[in-house]
Amino acid sequence: MKRKKILVTGGAGYIGSHTCVEFINAGYEPIILDNFSNSKEFIPERIQEITGTKPRVIDLDCAAYESLLEAVKAEGNINGIVHFAAFKAVGESTRKPLDYYYNNVASTTSILKLMEALAIDNFVFSSSCTVYGQPDVLPVTEDSPIKAAESPYGRTKQICEDLIQDFYKAKEDLKAVSLRYFNPIGAHPSSLIGELPLGVPNNLVPYITQTAIGLRQNLTIFGDDYDTPDGTCIRDYIHVVDLAKAHVAALSYLEKSNNGLYDIFNLGTGTGNSVLEVVNTFEKIAQMKLNYTIGPRRQGDIVKVFADVSKSKNLLNWETKLSLIDALRDAWNWEKSLKTADIS
Ligand code: UFG
Repeated sequence: MKRKKILVTGGAGYIGSHTCVEFINAGYEPIILDNFSNSKEFIPERIQEITGTKPRVIDLDCAAYESLLEAVKAEGNINGIVHFAAFKAVGESTRKPLDYYYNNVASTTSILKLMEALAIDNFVFSSSCTVYGQPDVLPVTEDSPIKAAESPYGRTKQICEDLIQDFYKAKEDLKAVSLRYFNPIGAHPSSLIGELPLGVPNNLVPYITQTAIGLRQNLTIFGDDYDTPDGTCIRDYIHVVDLAKAHVAALSYLEKSNNGLYDIFNLGTGTGNSVLEVVNTFEKIAQMKLNYTIGPRRQGDIVKVFADVSKSKNLLNWETKLSLIDALRDAWNWEKSLKTADIS
């Protein structure tokens, strides 16, 4: 049977590459659309090593609408688009807001225009739990109020969600979902793909693994005087392979619907872990003592957030299977493989 083609923007990136693997495993043909501004050219080959299939690559910027239209048209019938391509560093977004609005919002507009021009109905958008801000009630459901964004990055995610919803109202045969990710961590168990942070990592887990391998001297835990059991912030850490599988489930949910729809899903484990719990779990897995100190709070940090995942479980028929231990073990193996392969 002919495989259905899915265009995966940002498909060479961290979550995108894992999602391509899961699409191939599920019998689809992902086509990567990526300008490699924050990803590596060798990723499609790594996907081939894992799955036996090398995805086709369109090397373009999502915002370059005219070229994009021509290139995607040439691919023939596209069944759906999964849109990851975006900048994602909170701190950088406050310094370079225009880059963020252009890269994140203009790109999404361009991709939606492409869907209209080529009559592609199924759209999966990569959103973030950042839209909930500092939540009043936990766990957060998809109906929890949207809070004022803390950064231009967060604002671009909110704007894109509104943009998709407005587009859906105007074009009712569109079938679209926004997937609000909690904290994706880990790597593929093969250690062939994983997160490749540019420069000093902003996020906790790559900072931990880089400290453990000796690339960073010391992890600073940003505050231990929060109103949580051990004083450090709480997040819902989800293994990137579980997260990737949710995209296949979301696309299949859209395909099954005979009518247009717009819906939102939380993607998390439903459980919160503190920074200290993550550090302690990592120490057990790596069988080493991590160099860390307690520092001041990081501005704008959310104290506690974790997902209510019942909607994803009921409608997408998806839930996480992997644990924090699995994710940290895979992240650590990935870090060690980078050291060996010298591609960091
Ligand atoms: N942390 C440290 N030290 C570090 C890095 C992080 O203590 O060096 C702590 C943070 O203070 C926070 C936790 O680890 O308590 C997780 O921090 P991350 O930066 O890994 O993740 P965030 O939850 O702050 O941010 C992530 C994404 C954002 C997204 C947000 C949604 O990076 O893009 O989740 O809540 F917007």
